[in-house]
Amino acid sequence: MSKGIQNQIAELVARINEHNFQYHSLDAPLISDEEFDQLMIQLQELEKQYPQYKLPNTPTERIGGPPLEEFQKMDHRLPMLSLQNANNASEIADFYTKTQEYLNLKPEDSIEFIAEPKFDGLGVELIYEKGKLTAALTRGDGTTGELVTEQIKTIKSIPLKISTDLDILEVRGEVLMKKKDFLELNIEQEKNNLKTFANPRNAAAGSVRLLDPKITAIRPLTFYAYSHGIKSFESKSQYEFLDLLYKLKIPCLINTSINKFNLYQKINNPDLLIVYYTALQDLREDLPFEIDGCVFKVNKTTLQKRLGFVARSPRWAVAGKFRSPKKLTRLIDVQIQVGRTGALTPVAQLEPVEIAGVIVKKSSLHNFDEINKLDIRINDMVWVERAGDVIPKVLKVELSQRPADSSQIEIPKTCPSCQTAVVKLDGDAVIRCENSLCPAQMKERLVHFVSRKALNIDKLGDKWIHILFDQKFINTYSDIFSLEKEQLLKLERMGDKSAENLISSIQESKEVSLEKFLFALGLRHIGEQGARTLAKNYDNLESLLETTQEQLENIHDIGPKAAEAFWSLINNSELKSEVMKLSQILTITNLKPDTKNLSLLDKSFVITGQFEKSRSEISNLILSNGGLVKSSVTKKVNYLVCGEKPGSKLKKAQELKLEILSLEQLQKLI
Ligand code: IVH
Repeated sequence: MSKGIQNQIAELVARINEHNFQYHSLDAPLISDEEFDQLMIQLQELEKQYPQYKLPNTPTERIGGPPLEEFQKMDHRLPMLSLQNANNASEIADFYTKTQEYLNLKPEDSIEFIAEPKFDGLGVELIYEKGKLTAALTRGDGTTGELVTEQIKTIKSIPLKISTDLDILEVRGEVLMKKKDFLELNIEQEKNNLKTFANPRNAAAGSVRLLDPKITAIRPLTFYAYSHGIKSFESKSQYEFLDLLYKLKIPCLINTSINKFNLYQKINNPDLLIVYYTALQDLREDLPFEIDGCVFKVNKTTLQKRLGFVARSPRWAVAGKFRSPKKLTRLIDVQIQVGRTGALTPVAQLEPVEIAGVIVKKSSLHNFDEINKLDIRINDMVWVERAGDVIPKVLKVELSQRPADSSQIEIPKTCPSCQTAVVKLDGDAVIRCENSLCPAQMKERLVHFVSRKALNIDKLGDKWIHILFDQKFINTYSDIFSLEKEQLLKLERMGDKSAENLISSIQESKEVSLEKFLFALGLRHIGEQGARTLAKNYDNLESLLETTQEQLENIHDIGPKAAEAFWSLINNSELKSEVMKLSQILTITNLKPDTKNLSLLDKSFVITGQFEKSRSEISNLILSNGGLVKSSVTKKVNYLVCGEKPGSKLKKAQELKLEILSLEQLQKLI
């Protein structure tokens, strides 16, 4: 009897899963919705009666569990990086040439790329352990994401189980809402007096990031895979990897064509990359989902490994971004914003205009030189685009429509926030307020301090920072950590629960990496990359604060401006004492990869002559193994890496009795 029930359940699960695949992945249902619902009801009944036979891949898991209190955060085992952009055909051609040069190939040697659509949705990572979907994470800031497992399980085309017993397979892809589903959802939302979404991307992201997975379950979401995190097997190429996903029935469009155009293509010459880019752009309107470009990836894994990464993007891939639609609208006014470094930015206030699904009302004009260059006046009609489909940009004035009452935009003489006289330094396009106590600057510094890439206090948004600052609850960074619930409750529209959440999100942010902490300080010229480099070069905050100006300037990749900016922090007693105060409140960690095993640690190299690898590849090889690359031969240099036809450097190195290495010897040393 029990065997009978068990079999019956297993059979129902298999049938329903197959129908889900037919319907959601292949768009080819075999049975009616009513018949499908009947099967689901049968299964639910049986599982209720015999919970002991419930299977891990049962489709009833997709209905969505109980609502969450908040999203749990989790680190990606491999960071989810971003892509460099190529904005037009010539930048795509440049990318091809640069890749060829890095690999030291001759112009006639071709490289094979995979061309793919660039999906415009929410990046997520699915984690399969022994074939079972055990977790799903949003991309987040690339390092840390939010656990959205229950929400993701409700997406019917994502298999809960795949037929493999691989220890681990992390699949990365994009959650999307198809254009048709998006329009239907908005109609439904409007009918029910609920908020509508500006575009399919927001609808998809908003639907995944819902605390109640039961609501996610009724949102029509789709997922397409495009790459991987860690995985317990090697694949020879991107194509081979995608093909495996396809075989595992993980949604992937590798074998899909639309209007006879294959969405995924192997391409080995730059002209054909551009043909693909143009053709996909023409197809954009006809696709059932939104894309914002294409992605070209070097196909072979061995070549990907050689190319490696620059900052946060792979050198082996590029996003070919599409032209944004341009719209004509009126410039109503220009407001001046004061940034955290005191820069005064003119911001165009525009008559609202819809561009690619988003209503644009303002756009930065960057600086007053830009305004002069474009000859923009108030009341002008201006052409606006969304650069990279995200940030709006004023392109030019439509002079043929200049109205008689257009008026010049005045350059401010004083800061709109603190009324201090502004300054404009020679060679700097920017006008600045140099009053470090300027309230607008202080607010913006606080906003930056809590932002996602800095301390990431997610419950403390811009709006609250402004209110807390205006109410004089906070003035400097450290004040944030002395906020108390009772105090917060005095604020309008702050309930008990929100106050508690805010306080606990502040508490959670207290453990922070040195790199994020340095970035959070918002020093001029020290962005994410600069902060990372500083953190890499020092053990902890204390040793960094004891550094000398010379040491700072000698760090590879720290420019003189960044060194100067950091040096002025050390010499500014007020800011320094704030940093010291923060170091008491926070736990600042600086975990580094174990550098002791880096074979070239602290050794310095000069490269000369010609090699089968490019200079860039060789110097990155040295740098990534802890070594330093210098441009001229001195007695402080340890090795000369010497190829064919060396120049005068070889002679000099021989005179100084430096050790001379061939490329092979260097590789052996590593
Ligand atoms: S590959 C290391 N392929 O674009 C390479 N990304 O700017 C990582 N995206 O966060 C990305 N379609 O969310 C890749 N076919 C595609 C993609 C794609 C969309 C998104 C993804 C990523 C962002 C990168």
